[in-house]
Amino acid sequence: MPKPVFILNGPNLNLLGLRQPEIYGRETLEDVADACSALAEELGLSIRFHQSNHEGALVDWIHQARNEGSGIIINPAAYTHTSVAILDALNAFEGPVLEVHISNVHRREAFRHHSYVSLRAEGVIAGFGTEGYQLALRRMKTLVGK
Ligand code: DQA
Repeated sequence: MPKPVFILNGPNLNLLGLRQPEIYGRETLEDVADACSALAEELGLSIRFHQSNHEGALVDWIHQARNEGSGIIINPAAYTHTSVAILDALNAFEGPVLEVHISNVHRREAFRHHSYVSLRAEGVIAGFGTEGYQLALRRMKTLVGK
């Protein structure tokens, strides 16, 4: 089995299911983690699933993935649009990076149309709801299997 895929989630995603359900749906982050674990098992992958409201914690997990991870799936949430630190950390990671957004950021406010993380990501999934994580995991299987 390859090293674990890190699935990283940024600020406010701990409130998934409660926060703006008309945009983000009613599933909780725990539901997403459970669905990812089940799919990972089916695909023969392992995952490490984390969420933090703090930019530095996300940077630290990306650094950890340099030695311990095969790929990174990241929903950087609001840091998508602001964080050079997360981009720099991802640039120091050698495996594949996939970016996930639950909502279709391109249909929303203009400030959500730019992503620093997209400069590094092999692929971006947006607007597929929480299913986007599972789509990303399937793609990650292809990328880390190479
Ligand atoms: C988000 C989109 C971001 O613009 C927003 O700040 C989030 C969540 C999404 O998953 O759709 O917190 O990344």
